[in-house]
Amino acid sequence: MTNIKIRNETSSDYSQKLSILDACFGPSRLNRTVYMYRKSSPIEELSLISCFEEDPSKVIGTINFYRVLIKKIDCLLLGPLAVDKKFQGYGFGKKLIQIGLDKAKLNNETICFVSGEYDYYNEFGFDKLINKGLDISIPGPLSYDGLLICELKYNAASLLEQNSKLLPLIK
Ligand SMILES: CC(C)(COP(=O)(O)OP(=O)(O)OC[C@H]1O[C@@H](n2cnc3c(N)ncnc32)[C@H](O)[C@@H]1OP(=O)(O)O)[C@@H](O)C(=O)NCCC(=O)NCCS
Repeated sequence: MTNIKIRNETSSDYSQKLSILDACFGPSRLNRTVYMYRKSSPIEELSLISCFEEDPSKVIGTINFYRVLIKKIDCLLLGPLAVDKKFQGYGFGKKLIQIGLDKAKLNNETICFVSGEYDYYNEFGFDKLINKGLDISIPGPLSYDGLLICELKYNAASLLEQNSKLLPLIK
């Protein structure tokens, strides 16, 4: 169960990816607040699939990142992240996050947000906004523990104003 491969998403992954997202979040996921930020395409270089080395065409997990904007600062929003229910708990999710964030740093990205559970995302450097002295407004309710922030560059959160608004960025 440890031969996890992470590769770039391709168009042929689409239907498998959709089935995993439907199974994990249900079709009503499209009504969630985060989908307001997912109206354009996800960032291509950060669209990743996890699979077994031995069977790379079978999609086990999926991660995307979207562009968001705070004032004039271009940031990332992680998600959706989902792993096939049959293979949850084997490391596919963590590897997708780790490699996604490593690639984002290599691409010179500054800040990444996620709407997720603090206990899961904390080990990747995500923190609660309140711990960074930030109050960022979004246009609706969020699931889990609200918005979490990960600085991809040293002290990047200090670039943000204390009270600001997260906007989708269409590129
Ligand atoms: C959340 C999800 C992506 C994790 O992927 P995964 O491959 O199952 O997780 P991993 O095997 O990489 O990590 C497992 C570890 O994370 C922990 N974990 C999993 N979900 C967690 C959660 N919601 N909160 C806290 N810890 C969690 C497990 O306890 C385990 O801990 P350990 O490594 O100390 O044993 C997957 O369970 C999933 O698709 N869930 C449904 C959709 C979802 O919730 N997506 C995330 C929305 S932000």
